[in-house]
Amino acid sequence: MPKIRIVHYSHTGNTKKMAEALAEGARTVHGVEVEPKRYEAPQRLVDFDAIIVGVPTYHHTMTNNIRKFLEEVAFHDVNLKGKIGAAFRSYGWSGEAPRLVLEVMENTFEMEVLKRPLLVKYAPDEAGLHKSKKFGKTVADRI
Ligand SMILES: Cc1cc2nc3c(=O)[nH]c(=O)nc-3n(C[C@H](O)[C@H](O)[C@H](O)COP(=O)(O)O)c2cc1C
Repeated sequence: MPKIRIVHYSHTGNTKKMAEALAEGARTVHGVEVEPKRYEAPQRLVDFDAIIVGVPTYHHTMTNNIRKFLEEVAFHDVNLKGKIGAAFRSYGWSGEAPRLVLEVMENTFEMEVLKRPLLVKYAPDEAGLHKSKKFGKTVADRI
């Protein structure tokens, strides 16, 4: 059964809402197992076919906990080569964070990344939630 892990951080809840919509969209693909979580133990990531990271942009960068998470994956030398990687975020005006995550996924972990992250400005409205569901389905379809 194809498995997706969504790891996300959200300070004021916007990215969290997107994560839940993404999971809903991914679940529309038959047989896909997906769960959004705030954290996943790095060694457990090998159990998943796709890893999606949700991270808002604060002070032009990713949040400390997501940076720490990526560093732990690297430190433990977890083999993610060939797995699908994707990223999304809520942002205010610049929104650098997901691109930074995708760079690490591609260059350090050698994952197959979806080059374009999903972006929603501030709180996702109906259109933002719809985009999030579609993005989740796109990842699930790729597995
Ligand atoms: C202290 C602070 C710094 C921020 N810095 C940025 C920034 O550099 N670039 C940007 O695009 N948005 C920035 N934002 C806006 C947040 O990314 C935006 O509010 C986002 O929706 C928060 O997502 P969350 O609810 O998932 O935490 C900042 C917000 C705060 C409160």
